[in-house]
Amino acid sequence: MPRRAHPPIDLRSDTVTRPTRAMRRAMAAAVVGDDVFREDPTVRRLEETAATLLGKPAALFVPTGTMGNQIAVNVWTRPGQEVILDERSHILNYEMGTMAAFSGVLPRPLRAADGFPAPEDVERAFRPPVYYLVRTGLVTLENTHNMAGGTVCPPRQAEAVAAVARVRRIPTHLDGARIFNAAAALDLPAARLARPFDSVMFCLSKGLGAPIGSILAGPADFIDEALRVRKRLGGGMRQAGVIAAAGLVALRDQVDRLADDHANARRLAEGVAAIDGCAVDPARVPTNIVIFELAAAGARAATVVTRWQEAGVLALAIDDRHIRVVTHYDVDRAGIDRAVASLARIMTGVTGKGRRRRA
Ligand SMILES: Cc1ncc(COP(=O)(O)O)c(C=O)c1O
Repeated sequence: MPRRAHPPIDLRSDTVTRPTRAMRRAMAAAVVGDDVFREDPTVRRLEETAATLLGKPAALFVPTGTMGNQIAVNVWTRPGQEVILDERSHILNYEMGTMAAFSGVLPRPLRAADGFPAPEDVERAFRPPVYYLVRTGLVTLENTHNMAGGTVCPPRQAEAVAAVARVRRIPTHLDGARIFNAAAALDLPAARLARPFDSVMFCLSKGLGAPIGSILAGPADFIDEALRVRKRLGGGMRQAGVIAAAGLVALRDQVDRLADDHANARRLAEGVAAIDGCAVDPARVPTNIVIFELAAAGARAATVVTRWQEAGVLALAIDDRHIRVVTHYDVDRAGIDRAVASLARIMTGVTGKGRRRRA
């Protein structure tokens, strides 16, 4: 096998990052205890730090974002109720139907171009308060929105959606897996984006670079119940301080550098937009996720992704025409430029086009 000059440029997701040296040091030195007995001081410190950052009374460390979201669905709802969410949301599409299987609730998907349903649409989705109609148990929003391309919810819109739910005493949950990316894009504290919602989940193991873990935050009585549901799901971990320690370093060191990932994503989008046969609007790339379209006839996403991989760049085909790439701290600007140059060569081969257009 020929030796490659560079290691692969892995743009499949921001989950592929490996722990930093500081994280590994903190993990090795972590003071631990049995967290099922709530005796792990490092876990407790992470939960307190995260609750403060999100402006919520309490927080719970959970192994994954999926578990955090599904605990929230379970605590807030009763079987037979509906959950209002966006049709491309992670909770609906990528959590294995757990909302139905574990909590017995129905999704009520709404369509929204940028991933964020308008308050009027949410309002319309509430059924009249007649005893024989299904009740809404929860409204969720996702910010940033993964499959809409890392879009950021305007804070006023999030507030308006939460307000229409509050009037009806319906709880709200934010899938804020990448809330710190949204906060960086808006230059606002994460707490401001979390404020309208009763509960919030965010991931330490995405752009923040920790190896494992997410946080679920909300009112103290909600977190008390979430602790029970976490155990029921098998998410009660023992000396989890070893991984929580990396989470604390992530919150200390990684939040301020997310803007670099956003700049790299924008640079990548500009490069891709200049390739014949690819379409993306760089002005609509606010954070670290770029979804571009193969506009050229005959170009298939799976083929392009395979060729890109052979050239040392990993990306995800999300359907026949769209490819998703995600920037993170393991990919630098030079890597982004190499990825774009290699895509331009591939597109020439695939379509006979692919030459870079003049900007
Ligand atoms: C928006 C969103 N929510 C939730 C999750 C779930 O996180 P995990 O993979 O830790 O279960 C993801 C993961 O990609 C995500 O993108």
